[in-house]
Amino acid sequence: MSGKINITDLNIVVLTEDSDISHFSCGNVELDTFLAKTAKIAQVEDTSRTHLAYLNGVLVGFFSLICDNIARKQIDIEYQKENYVHKVYPAVKVTRLAVHREYQGRGIGHALLYYALGTVYALQKYAACRFVIVDAKPDAIDFYKMFGFHSNTAAKNKHLLYFDYNEFRRRLDEKADVMA
Ligand SMILES: CC(C)(COP(=O)(O)OP(=O)(O)OC[C@H]1O[C@@H](n2cnc3c(N)ncnc32)[C@H](O)[C@@H]1OP(=O)(O)O)[C@@H](O)C(=O)NCCC(=O)NCCS
Repeated sequence: MSGKINITDLNIVVLTEDSDISHFSCGNVELDTFLAKTAKIAQVEDTSRTHLAYLNGVLVGFFSLICDNIARKQIDIEYQKENYVHKVYPAVKVTRLAVHREYQGRGIGHALLYYALGTVYALQKYAACRFVIVDAKPDAIDFYKMFGFHSNTAAKNKHLLYFDYNEFRRRLDEKADVMA
């Protein structure tokens, strides 16, 4: 299977009790087990919100989000040139993100991250969220960095990557000004 997949090719829906999740495998046992055994329970308990991505009816990926926060000391010193004045910032955490092993490398992971940021955009109207964060698996750190996530190797949790949503929105606004 080959060829890039666009975000508009995907049908992304929130997991429900009736969702068929039986044929998904990304190759990572912890992620596959979460989807198969825990995701529906967590959905009902309101401890995780999972979104499923379908391509022509096939479940090709999923991601889960929760509300969280990030301490200023987790943010890179160099990056703190932005002058973060608060000790803690509100965040949405991507707790899991996975693409079906047969569909990896075709842009779906990137599309899902983009979509996750879109859900944060919608949330911003009702509840503030400054950062999007992720506890990245070592193999996936570069995937998130390519997207614009930062890491702080001097921090306690070296796998916690962060993305300043405010900066992202400012960049989009500047782009819109230039194009106007
Ligand atoms: C990591 C994962 C989500 C990436 O999804 P994907 O659909 O394969 O990635 P994409 O095709 O959207 O890749 C987007 C870009 O990231 C790069 N990339 C993908 N996976 C990468 C990785 N593990 N490390 C570094 N770069 C990676 C791609 O080369 C691509 O670059 P390009 O735009 O220059 O071509 C997927 O491979 C996966 O599910 N892996 C197993 C589970 C996992 O590790 N999940 C992450 C949990 S933190």
